[in-house]
Amino acid sequence: MVIADSKAQAIAFDLNSIDQRFIDDPYPVLANLREHDPVHINPDGSLYLTRYEDVRAVYRDRTMISDKTVAFKDKFGDGPLYTHHTTSLIFNDPPYHTTVRKLLASAFTARKLAEMEPLIGEIVDTLLDELQGAGDVDFVTAFAMRLPTEVISFMLGVPKEHRKKLRGFSLAILGALDPVVSGARLEAGNEAVSEFSDMLSDLINHRRANPEGAGQGEVLEALIFGEFEGRKLTQEELIQNCIFLLNAGHETTTSLMANGVGMLLQSPEQYRLLASTPDLVDSAVEEILRFESPLQIGNRLTTVESLIGGKTIPAGTYIHTSIAAANRDPQVFQKPDTVDITRVPNRHLAFITGIHVCLGATLARYEGRIAFRKLIERFPEMKPAGTPKRMPLARFRGFSELPVRF
Ligand code: HEM
Repeated sequence: MVIADSKAQAIAFDLNSIDQRFIDDPYPVLANLREHDPVHINPDGSLYLTRYEDVRAVYRDRTMISDKTVAFKDKFGDGPLYTHHTTSLIFNDPPYHTTVRKLLASAFTARKLAEMEPLIGEIVDTLLDELQGAGDVDFVTAFAMRLPTEVISFMLGVPKEHRKKLRGFSLAILGALDPVVSGARLEAGNEAVSEFSDMLSDLINHRRANPEGAGQGEVLEALIFGEFEGRKLTQEELIQNCIFLLNAGHETTTSLMANGVGMLLQSPEQYRLLASTPDLVDSAVEEILRFESPLQIGNRLTTVESLIGGKTIPAGTYIHTSIAAANRDPQVFQKPDTVDITRVPNRHLAFITGIHVCLGATLARYEGRIAFRKLIERFPEMKPAGTPKRMPLARFRGFSELPVRF
């Protein structure tokens, strides 16, 4: 009877009408789907995949594409949000995706990232100095969002006076990607793209005219002047992909920081273990990424009839991949709902796999490892200082407020 109820609930699930309970704690619902209806069909005909193997297979299948021109036309209409999301490499396929990816990758080489390491350490130290003796603070605004914003702003040459605006922009632009979006959110997203584009256009024009002014570690110049197979990015492509980089570069990493502290505060014995064995920081960062993946849902579109998890799926079907559910699949991870900072191997899909694998994964890992090592060394006894608030989004999992006592 109980199993029948669970199965009925799984089959009745609709990703387009999730509620606050799901946002606060999606994992029980995801576990139920994974067990009873892993290749779930939403009422709108789209799929929601929750098994690791199925999610991984979709990402590795080149017939499953990222193009969103049709879906975003329905969702956003014409306007800045549509232009932005359909020009970003993430929602494109080869050959455009290959060109943009190659150009961006040239700006994220191991050498360029190694140049960033001392800067990341300095930013972390400065932010932690401010936390020393600060008492109760909101960790999100005091630390989590500031580190990645400073790092990616530095790389793209965004001056200090503009950096405060970035989180608002990114939440408005990325928030519009949630499965269901209100008119007010669409308006905010469109305004954010317009304002952000104007700001970037000025920065790009300035760097175009003054290439020698770029500091060490800044990559904007490489994006402006770089070529792949004789092709440079147009001004529009540059602007939209820089907006994407700035958003991708800080929003998810902010969540990595805040989700990590939230996770450690809820698992005091793991926190003590990390504090007493800081060399576990690398595997701890991987466990944070697995346990509370900042990007919880991805999308692909089938272009041919496909077999997914034993079901035949027609061409033209939208797929939602639950990265969150895949990362807690008991077929792959032992005790998946338990935090284990010593977990090795940890083949989570937080950065996915395939041709769109996160370009900033190495940078995000650097930031996570440096931040958590220094944080734990300086503050081995942080405590919760109030009720945390989750961001009101299904696709992105992070905190809008995380009160911590230092
Ligand atoms: C913890 C932090 C991060 C997480 C969890 C994350 C996650 C992801 C995921 C899941 C994707 C693939 C989306 C898809 O195709 O469906 C992605 C793509 C991407 N990410 Fe990240 N990301 C993080 C940090 C960063 C940073 C710091 C940067 C850059 C500075 C970055 C840049 C990108 C770019 C450029 C892509 C698009 C790649 C492509 O389409 O080929 N990410 N990220």
